[in-house]
Amino acid sequence: MAVPPAARYPLADGFLMGASTSAHQTEGNNISSDLWALENTPDSVLPERSGDAADSFHRWPEDMDLLSELGFNAYRFSIEWARIEPEEGRVSRAAIAHYRAMVLGARERGLEPVITLHHFTSPRWFSRRGGWLAEDSAQRFAAYARTAVEILGGDVRYVATINEPNMVALVHAVRRRASRSGGGAGGVAFDPSTVEPDQQVTEALIRAHRAAARALREADPDYLVGWTVANQVYQPEPGAEEVARAHALSREDVFLHAARGDDWIGVQAYTRHRIGVNGPLPVPDGAEATLTGWEFYPQALGQAVQHTRQVVGPDVPILVTENGIATADDERRIAYTEQALAGLAAALQDGADVRGYLHWSALDNYEWGSYRPTFGLIAVDPHTFARTPKPSAHWLGALARNGYLPTSTAAADGNPSVHTLV
Ligand code: BGC
Repeated sequence: MAVPPAARYPLADGFLMGASTSAHQTEGNNISSDLWALENTPDSVLPERSGDAADSFHRWPEDMDLLSELGFNAYRFSIEWARIEPEEGRVSRAAIAHYRAMVLGARERGLEPVITLHHFTSPRWFSRRGGWLAEDSAQRFAAYARTAVEILGGDVRYVATINEPNMVALVHAVRRRASRSGGGAGGVAFDPSTVEPDQQVTEALIRAHRAAARALREADPDYLVGWTVANQVYQPEPGAEEVARAHALSREDVFLHAARGDDWIGVQAYTRHRIGVNGPLPVPDGAEATLTGWEFYPQALGQAVQHTRQVVGPDVPILVTENGIATADDERRIAYTEQALAGLAAALQDGADVRGYLHWSALDNYEWGSYRPTFGLIAVDPHTFARTPKPSAHWLGALARNGYLPTSTAAADGNPSVHTLV
């Protein structure tokens, strides 16, 4: 059945449509990383270990084949510092060759590689010597970025230095508070949404981002360097405007301000966060919740793009580097994504300079402590690692191939117009 013209927003040539993953969540056996150490300590706070993950360390060619066959033209993945520099100053030639092959493999398949240098995990040695709070963390990170140039070569344009620095600074503060309040293995005895990102870590991350960006641009001025921020879509209840503004400043906006001189900014949005006069409010009664417990709120994407554009300024292009939903019901994934894309189309229509949309995630993967929240367009059998694209993968791939986004849809009432799109 043909789609009525009003239901389509045609994408500009070169618009990136694809999916995202990260190394630790998909590769498996990231044994030199700090998170592997945390997962494998006795009484770890993390209920499940990453283990073999999706075995993408070996199966990346199959992952990329699938993405390209589905119709996508871009793939965001991260390279793993802990594999590239497993001991301080000791670079693994094999790891460099591995990731270089991935970059070339993406290009060969018509996928634009969007590369993240740091996606939550660090080498153990880096964390042991103080992590981001070590005096020379920015220099160490910039040195890693210089090493990564051999992987990127002249074959990568978009490079993200650090994924969700706001979450990194927040997790640091949460862990510190948990260990002070006797949490740790016993769990967190307070509401983490009341914790503020660690100010010193925030400043250190901004320094590290700038140092790495400088190192990359010195190596090749054509690299487009940015970072990707977790957009929380803070919504004030009446009377709570000032509380919400203050809440957003340290948790999100300071990281967006830091992107003002960058080549692009990554928007990552999943849901909204309502703020009342006394702070964060729970998911509204009766609202649909996803497998992460977040409210089903696809309008978050359009709102996050608009907020980012306002704070960073209209001159910094935007890439949506993550957006998706943890659900076992793939029809809900389609419904969510269709509405999210309609919000994106509205932002584009309004003049936002958005260069691409990368869905989280290409694969079901390790959701930082558990395999239960499934975000993937492609299912992965945990024993055989067999990949099976879900209907949502075919649906989104068809949009990519045909070069348009849905605009207003019937999805608001839970009836995605998917069947008219493929
Ligand atoms: C992260 C991903 C994560 C996703 C869903 C983002 O915070 O970058 O690694 O899996 O959200 O929680």
